[in-house]
Amino acid sequence: MFDFFTFQVRPRIIFKAGAIDGLRAEIEQLRASRTVIITDQGTRDAGLIERVQAGMAGATTLAGVFSNVPQGASIAATEQAAAFAHSVEANLLIAVGGGSSLDTAKAMRILLAEGGTLRAHADNIRLHHPLIPLIAIPTTAGSGSEVSTWASVRDATARTKISLNHPALAPDLALLDPELTYTMPPQLTAATGLEALAHAIEALAGINANPISDILALQAIDMISNNLRDATYDGGDMAARGAMLIAACIAGMAFSSSGGSGLGMIHALALAIGGTLDVQHSLVNTVLLPYGMQFNSVAVPNRFARIARYMGVNSGGRPEEDVIADGIDAVRLLAADCGLPSRLRDVGVPQAAIPSIVDTALTDPAWLNNPRTVTPEQLLEILYTAW
Ligand SMILES: [Fe+2]
Repeated sequence: MFDFFTFQVRPRIIFKAGAIDGLRAEIEQLRASRTVIITDQGTRDAGLIERVQAGMAGATTLAGVFSNVPQGASIAATEQAAAFAHSVEANLLIAVGGGSSLDTAKAMRILLAEGGTLRAHADNIRLHHPLIPLIAIPTTAGSGSEVSTWASVRDATARTKISLNHPALAPDLALLDPELTYTMPPQLTAATGLEALAHAIEALAGINANPISDILALQAIDMISNNLRDATYDGGDMAARGAMLIAACIAGMAFSSSGGSGLGMIHALALAIGGTLDVQHSLVNTVLLPYGMQFNSVAVPNRFARIARYMGVNSGGRPEEDVIADGIDAVRLLAADCGLPSRLRDVGVPQAAIPSIVDTALTDPAWLNNPRTVTPEQLLEILYTAW
């Protein structure tokens, strides 16, 4: 039974192949005269900014393009982006790219509205002014940042990740156009898809799960298990690309709407690793996902049996522990079929870094949603096994 929960999805969502061509009408509704695009060099090199510019032409003045978002959003780049948008008097941001570009745009809005430094806002976001409008256009199908209230930003000096969370951080519009994901290379397609799967699984297994986050997470698991292989092996498969974009978006809603479930140990570890090392967040999540499932499954076996069924495991009349084991194997097989690595050593994590990763991970707020408590010794064992 549920005594209490809240649930709010903030942004309007538009899904359509070619939706970018209708961007003009969306901007006109926001009455924005000066627009800055926030993106990364890879997205720019893929020619996607030209498509965005064509879609917005006539509705607003393009005041500038900030394309210096690094892999893993950083405080320095976020503060640079805010200074740039301030200098050109932007009154609309359009974030185009993966989670790093979207998180940068979300976080910089705090600085534009309130001034100060991101570090000063990190622990306690108090907004006294409205945030500049933001249109989020994901070009990967993974982070769910286009609908989430979170922004994760790397503090290179303190070698940690700052997690910013406020209901107002969610974008005003999430524009999902699968055509913008066609050029995503196979490994990034696969890794970001597994990242979305990790969001859905952690949301479903978490102690703050509720009936709304559950149904979103289960739908995401079903769509990812049925479409990720096709999207990886045929980048132009419109149906698979569309399904993955929607799945990543609804997995984002499951864990991170205002009232969404939250994440758990996999993200606590991945964020600790991402704070100290220059690694791809989605690849780290991919490697850790089966280990986290294994560890947590004893705490909430019925939840992991459900996950297994939505991963396509036949559960009829079989012992629950066998169904759960097959579900974890199905996740491993999906990653392997898509050509993803299965060891931490293969995604840029040195073995010597493991003890400090454990120290940092244990302080991450993602634990608040994890269904099982953990000791430092257990975490060390998990990471050495995954290494
Ligand atoms: Fe994530």
